[in-house]
Amino acid sequence: MMEVCRVFSVAIVCVCLAAVTSAASKNNRVRVGDFASACKANDPELNECVRQAIITTIPKMAKGVRDLGLIPFDPLKVPQVVIDQRGNGPVGLKLTFVNSEHVGVSGLAPHSVKVVPERMYFEINSTLPKYRIIGDYEVEGRILLLPLIGNGPSDFTMNNIQLNWIFFGKPEVRNNKTYCKLTDCKIRMRIGSGSMRLDNLFNGDKRLGDNMNRIMNENFSEVIREVLPALEETFSQLYLQLIAPIFAVTRYEDIFPGIDMSKVSAGSYDV
Ligand SMILES: *[C@@H]1O[C@H](CO)[C@@H](O)[C@H](O)[C@H]1NC(C)=O
Ligand SMILES: *[C@@H]1O[C@H](CO)[C@@H](O)[C@H](O)[C@H]1NC(C)=O
Ligand SMILES: *[C@@H]1O[C@H](CO)[C@@H](O)[C@H](O)[C@H]1NC(C)=O
Repeated sequence: MMEVCRVFSVAIVCVCLAAVTSAASKNNRVRVGDFASACKANDPELNECVRQAIITTIPKMAKGVRDLGLIPFDPLKVPQVVIDQRGNGPVGLKLTFVNSEHVGVSGLAPHSVKVVPERMYFEINSTLPKYRIIGDYEVEGRILLLPLIGNGPSDFTMNNIQLNWIFFGKPEVRNNKTYCKLTDCKIRMRIGSGSMRLDNLFNGDKRLGDNMNRIMNENFSEVIREVLPALEETFSQLYLQLIAPIFAVTRYEDIFPGIDMSKVSAGSYDV
């Protein structure tokens, strides 16, 4: 296993995903078409076709597809996520999740899709009933203006999520074959409700820790509002890393049969 890690600087987010190494690119026994009925590039109902393909594909792929370079994603094991949002505002914290499991993404229900194959552009608006991050945390900083420090087991649950997802790529030619190299990904979320449990806060001081957990849960929507930008950035990077390998090993013509490759160019946010 190898780790892929990317660091950004808005809110500094570092996401590491265990990657499926080797095999994938050399081994073309498995194709995306084995999991999803491919959608023809000139299908007049292309958006609906892709929406249906996502719905039928997610449960089949949740356990991972080694030959597509896709690791199991429900649960998704994430060796490390760092959310670093230090600043002078009401939030200033560095929160690290180590060896966490992310549970629930296979409940993703796309309700509206926009695909522009010629620009390698994908936009998916969806709902997600529940998403849970379970694992060890380490935190230092403040939230709701209150100091926060500790490390230990944690459970972070979000319910009734509206998740809007845009990603796009650019053509990349290898061995005379054209692939889509994903270059950008932006996830925007609205979270209905949720809960958070951080065990062993304040060096194990139970009274302070229980009190802090109570405050965070009573004010969950404010807590979420404070960390949402960093959370969205984290998810954007996490899920870009997850799906990029599929596009990297599958010829673009196999994803959208019938596409005129001479008309394909790089995507952007204003497609
Ligand atoms: C997704 O939702 C956003 C925000 O409501 C909207 O601007 C966009 O047009 C929607 N995209 C699709 C494909 O429906
Ligand atoms: C790549 O494709 C071009 C044009 O289709 C062809 O002339 C060339 O021989 C191919 N090269 C390889 C290595 O297959
Ligand atoms: C949390 O919410 C309670 C009531 O819901 C409120 O009284 C309190 O001021 C809030 N705490 C913080 C730190 O925002």
